[in-house]
Amino acid sequence: MIEKDLFKAAKKAHKKAYAPYSNFHVGAAILDDKGQIHIGCNVENAAYPVGCCAEQSAVSQMIVNGGKVIKNILIIGQKGQPCPPCGACRQIIFEHGDQTTQIYLETTQGNFSCRSLKDLLPEAFDHSFLNKGLTDKNS
Ligand code: THU
Repeated sequence: MIEKDLFKAAKKAHKKAYAPYSNFHVGAAILDDKGQIHIGCNVENAAYPVGCCAEQSAVSQMIVNGGKVIKNILIIGQKGQPCPPCGACRQIIFEHGDQTTQIYLETTQGNFSCRSLKDLLPEAFDHSFLNKGLTDKNS
């Protein structure tokens, strides 16, 4: 079952989080259009704004490994609460997702709820607003 595989992968990433400042550990796992899984964790920095969210590092992994589209992304935050992606991460997931992308918000105990990109980022700004945008992100 794919949620189980993604949960395992995100938990592995969660353990690797570098979050000495917030102590808020986040792990993310992406299933891409080729069926590959990519993971990421948050990586903080003493210069706070330079830190990187788990979703962002998972997307970077997907891109460098040749994945094109996020089919599912599962995010694990802390303890009993599911972790909704921050605004910047919603925009990043939107850039690499499609209408069928599913975002699982999961607790460390494995309870999850599912969202679409439309739920998380209605009226999104995308390439269509730019003159030199992508024509087909799958090509
Ligand atoms: N964080 C994520 O990794 N993803 C999110 O979507 C929300 C916040 C991280 C950033 C920072 O390292 C810590 O959680 C506290 O904000």
